[in-house]
Amino acid sequence: MMSPIQRLVWADAARRARILLRFASVEADGGRDLVRAAEATSDPILRTLFLRHAADEARHATLFRTRAQALAPAGSAGTDGASAWLAPGERGLDDVQVEAETDRDLLAFLHLSEKAAARDFRSYVGVLARDPGTQAIFETIGRDEVFHMTYTLKQLKRLDPKRHRWAIWRARLKRLWRAYLRLAGAIGAVFGAIVLSVEYFIVLPPFALLDRGALRRETPGWRPIDDARARDLSRQY
Ligand SMILES: [Fe+2]
Ligand SMILES: [Fe+2]
Repeated sequence: MMSPIQRLVWADAARRARILLRFASVEADGGRDLVRAAEATSDPILRTLFLRHAADEARHATLFRTRAQALAPAGSAGTDGASAWLAPGERGLDDVQVEAETDRDLLAFLHLSEKAAARDFRSYVGVLARDPGTQAIFETIGRDEVFHMTYTLKQLKRLDPKRHRWAIWRARLKRLWRAYLRLAGAIGAVFGAIVLSVEYFIVLPPFALLDRGALRRETPGWRPIDDARARDLSRQY
């Protein structure tokens, strides 16, 4: 159902470049979070996997950035606005406080993010037939995301064989809450822009006109005030 919209989002080469640059920055961010997660965990198997995962995300960032530069060598000005919603890319740990979470919660969160990324990247492959270069990159990265999705679930089952489903549900609720906050923030920004525009173009002009009239009536230069007011020390004027 989303594919016509996705087709539209990815149709323009300059916009494609902007989206890929945004993806590159998110992947690099995710890689840094995973290095911190590797430092924080006391589980040697997880440390190895997190470091490998971090290296994958760093590589994804490079692939996306290189492709974006090939699509728009002069750089791509502007923002990709609505496409940030329609093509969110990989959210990684999505500003999760890595040090404050348990290994179990981190794995649950990562599993959901990677699952979403694997699904989204697969859908981008479907609409990028006219750009085989970008399509091939999503195919390659998509395979890594499937690996990330699988190992996080396996490790979660190893750490908590009985309650791993509950951990995934909790992570799902947290992701929903974050999505709600993002949406509420975006709606707030739109309403803020509307209210400020109305104030600027409709409410303020009459005051500006009144002020201009008052300025015309004002006589130039100094004006004497009466003695009583001049001597009154309880007021400024
Ligand atoms: Fe990635
Ligand atoms: Fe990933």
